[in-house]
Amino acid sequence: MTTLRVESLTTGYDKVNVLHDVSIKVEPGQITCILGSNGAGKSTLIRSILGLTPPRQGRILWGDRDLAGDKTHKIIASGITCIPEGRKVFPRMTVTENLALGAFLDTNPSRIRDNLERVYETFPRLKERANQLAGTMSGGEQAMVSIGRGMMANPKLLIIDEPSLGLSPLYVKENFNVIKRINATGLTVLLIEQNARQTLAIAHYGYVLSQGRITAQGSAEELSNNDEVRSAYFG
Ligand SMILES: Nc1ncnc2c1ncn2[C@@H]1O[C@H](COP(=O)(O)OP(=O)(O)O)[C@@H](O)[C@H]1O
Ligand SMILES: [Mg+2]
Repeated sequence: MTTLRVESLTTGYDKVNVLHDVSIKVEPGQITCILGSNGAGKSTLIRSILGLTPPRQGRILWGDRDLAGDKTHKIIASGITCIPEGRKVFPRMTVTENLALGAFLDTNPSRIRDNLERVYETFPRLKERANQLAGTMSGGEQAMVSIGRGMMANPKLLIIDEPSLGLSPLYVKENFNVIKRINATGLTVLLIEQNARQTLAIAHYGYVLSQGRITAQGSAEELSNNDEVRSAYFG
């Protein structure tokens, strides 16, 4: 059980800082969410955790380990996997081939088979469609492929960047149910979203990121009743 702590993180691109003094904690076993509108710096926070946009100030602690300065592949190998914005399935590859790519760091064939079986148990629909080209599937099914691909690395922490972006309401609901289910199997989730209502319905704890700063935090229930969240996200 490993806790992720981002402590007073400031970072950005070129001469501009995008994140300012950001501190968050992701408790093992929970769904922690970051709510923020377009351009708030959500994806930059993920890039920073993954070592793609390293901290300029502050620390990122994964258990006892300081990730600052580590290469991305090492960070991923330590048990942190990200499902990127827009899902990004490989359209001309089959479902199974897409899933197999999620295990690219794994050299143990029997473990890869076990992980694939676990993904197919979670998503029976993907098993039915194992040989279908991912590009010919619905948006909701592609979302399952991308989450399944993340699970293939058997991560301790799964970071999901805006899973509801571009999905129709029906698929959004299905997708959030899937996230809740995989969390119930013990997987820690950091969920990044603009869709506050659906996110707070499944999250345990959350933060609001506005213009690169944390402006509110609390349990999902507290955030649902927070004035800033209500006016900015519940209309
Ligand atoms: N690779 C990049 N190079 C320069 N600026 C970037 C880059 N990625 C994002 N930004 C800028 O950083 C800010 C935050 O972007 P981002 O983290 O993608 O926000 P969000 O994911 O919350 O929409 C935006 O102003 C964006 O233009
Ligand atoms: Mg983003």
